[in-house]
Amino acid sequence: MVQPTLNTEVYPAIHPSNFTSQFHNKLVVITGAGRGIGRHISLAFAKAGATLALLDFDTHRQSETKSLCEAAGAPKVYTFACDVTKYEQCVKVVEEVAKVGEIDVLVNNAGGGPIRGFTSQKFEDFWAGVEQNFKGAMIMMHLVLPGMKERKRGCIINIASRLFLF
Ligand SMILES: NC(=O)c1ccc[n+]([C@@H]2O[C@H](COP(=O)([O-])OP(=O)(O)OC[C@H]3O[C@@H](n4cnc5c(N)ncnc54)[C@H](O)[C@@H]3O)[C@@H](O)[C@H]2O)c1
Repeated sequence: MVQPTLNTEVYPAIHPSNFTSQFHNKLVVITGAGRGIGRHISLAFAKAGATLALLDFDTHRQSETKSLCEAAGAPKVYTFACDVTKYEQCVKVVEEVAKVGEIDVLVNNAGGGPIRGFTSQKFEDFWAGVEQNFKGAMIMMHLVLPGMKERKRGCIINIASRLFLF
C-alpha cells in the first residue's frame, strides 16, 4: 500500500520557471506584497520573469520582498507605499504604475485581520476588516479594469477570506 507523503514544494508541472515565456515583458501588480502569501506570490511571478509592481503600507517588509524578487530573477521590481483602502492613494499609485507599463495581471491579496466572530468584536473593528479585505480589492479593480477592457486582455486574481463572508 502506498503511504501518503507531505509535499511542501511546488509541483514541477506548475513551477514558475515553466512560465517564463508567458511572463517575459509582463507587468504584474500585487497588493499586500510585504509578507505572507503576497510575498510568495511575488516570488513566484519573479521566478517566471515578470516585471513587478508591489503595493503595501508596510514599506520595510515590502523592500525585503523587492530584494528577494530581484534575487529570484524579476527583471525590474517597483515598490509603492499604498493603503489599498484609501481611494486617492490607489489612484496615484495606479497612475505611477501606468508610467512603467500596461498592467497585465492584478493580484488583490492585501487583507487579513483577526479571526473573531462577528458579534465578538466591536462593529468598527469588523468594518475595518471588511474595508481591508473587500474595499481595497474593489478600488483596485475599479481603477485597473477599464484599461484591461480597452486592451481586451488582462487577468485579475482576488484572494478572499471566509472571515468576511456572511
Ligand atoms: N493565511 C491564511 O491562512 C489565509 C486564509 C484565507 C485567506 N487569506 C487571505 O490571503 C491574503 C493574504 O493573507 P496573509 O496570511 O498572507 O496575510 P498577512 O497578514 O501575512 O500579510 C498581509 C499583507 O498585506 C498588507 N496589507 C494589509 N492591509 C493592507 C492595506 N489596506 N493596504 C496595503 N497593504 C495591506 C500587510 O502589510 C501585509 O504585508 C489576505 O487577503 C487573507 O485574507 C489568508
